[in-house]
Amino acid sequence: MGLSKDFLWGGATAANQAEGGVLEGGRGLSNVDLLPTGPDRKKVAAGDLEMLEWKEGYYYPAKEAIDMYNRYMEDIQLFAEMGFKVYRMSLSWSRIFPNGDDLEPNEEGLAFYESIFHELKKHNIEPLVTIAHFDVPVHLIKEYGGWKNRKLVDFYSRYAETILNRYKGLVKYWLTINEINILLHQPFVGGGIVFQDGDNKLEIKYQAAHHQLLASALATKIAHEVDPNNMVGCMLAGGSHYPYTCRPEDYQEAINRDREGYFFIDVQARGKYPSYALKKFEREGLNIQMEEGDKDILAASPVDFVTFSYYCSRTVSAHPEDYAHATGNLFPSIKNEHLPSTEWGWQIDPLGLRNSLNQMYDRYQKPLFIVENGLGAIDTPDSNGYVEDDYRIDYLKKHIQAFKDAVEIDGVELLGYTTWGCIDLVAASTGQMSKRYGFVYVDRDDEGNGTLNRTKKKSFDWYKKVIASNGEVL
Ligand code: BG6
Repeated sequence: MGLSKDFLWGGATAANQAEGGVLEGGRGLSNVDLLPTGPDRKKVAAGDLEMLEWKEGYYYPAKEAIDMYNRYMEDIQLFAEMGFKVYRMSLSWSRIFPNGDDLEPNEEGLAFYESIFHELKKHNIEPLVTIAHFDVPVHLIKEYGGWKNRKLVDFYSRYAETILNRYKGLVKYWLTINEINILLHQPFVGGGIVFQDGDNKLEIKYQAAHHQLLASALATKIAHEVDPNNMVGCMLAGGSHYPYTCRPEDYQEAINRDREGYFFIDVQARGKYPSYALKKFEREGLNIQMEEGDKDILAASPVDFVTFSYYCSRTVSAHPEDYAHATGNLFPSIKNEHLPSTEWGWQIDPLGLRNSLNQMYDRYQKPLFIVENGLGAIDTPDSNGYVEDDYRIDYLKKHIQAFKDAVEIDGVELLGYTTWGCIDLVAASTGQMSKRYGFVYVDRDDEGNGTLNRTKKKSFDWYKKVIASNGEVL
């Protein structure tokens, strides 16, 4: 019993939240560079406030982030010291195609990631690469309107083809689009979409979704052609929905809300639109343009494995106005009084992870991979700069136990586990540095002050032991 000896333990980051260096190495600007901290961030993320260049009076944390662009050697060394078997990272699209529609890639950008992959190889760390993690070159937004335009399918495919060829033999595990369902909740972040007055928002979002689903299938096809050893996964912002009561209409609401996310994975893993989605388009009068041949593209290249992020479960009701609300990872939720919450109000639910794993394995019958999980918390270093993050250890311990149960007791097939923000980085929802997830503390505050020095937290040594014992010692 126990986890397989090949189980992939590690951590995850994303280019826009860690790299910085946004104007270095010939890189172009991308949507996520333009998310400010403060109250306007949400409006920009939702596509309701246009922010296509840096503006006076705002602070943009992605500009420097944690400067991984210049410090990746040191960071990889720390990951290696923890015994990582895998490191999930993303490539910045605009570092490779600065405008997105360029005919030739930026060699400096390609060389940068190649150097990272060589460094990882030296330490026997398998890269797990997200092709697009909330990442759309700004030029594609200004010129084409982002993913609502079908041309993005071609630009993304060219980008995918370039990196799949270039990194052949260096990278085996690929994810096409991070948290693809975020497109419905934060269309600027997920799809580079800025709405105009009078837009049919739902139609635009599902049109963009169709383009992303096509692009993802094409990338999967190219990946398999370039190297049959490549393994390609889709990626869902996960966490299933509970009905607040056992009223049948609350249960129905929970099913419907789960389907909002599963819609994407149903297409990516099964290769066709689920009937409930087509009925929804019909019912809501959404006119989604699909071309002849699209069905075949989707059918020809389902993903090899299914990945998801898990921070919390969510609770819903057919009568949400009757209840108090919790914040959650980008989705609205009713407060579940059976669960504790983080400092940011996300509700902590390890058993929810086991349940989600079972639900998804039942649904897809494909290997799963938890590619994000963790506790965003305020860390206070002591006078020596050391952080005793027992709260983080406790959170992770319970979630690891939960997925071990899913594997050992329920028989779910799980390839690996990468904790989110294995080194402190910029929070996606708020832009804060003070919302920390890492095993490694980064000296940087919410206003951009600090030395950027890296320090191991207590959880660093703890996770090292977890990995060394293949999850036996928690
Ligand atoms: C996921 C994203 O939504 O959650 C990450 O894929 C993000 O990019 C993570 O950082 C945690 O959210 P936050 O807002 O705490 O950073």
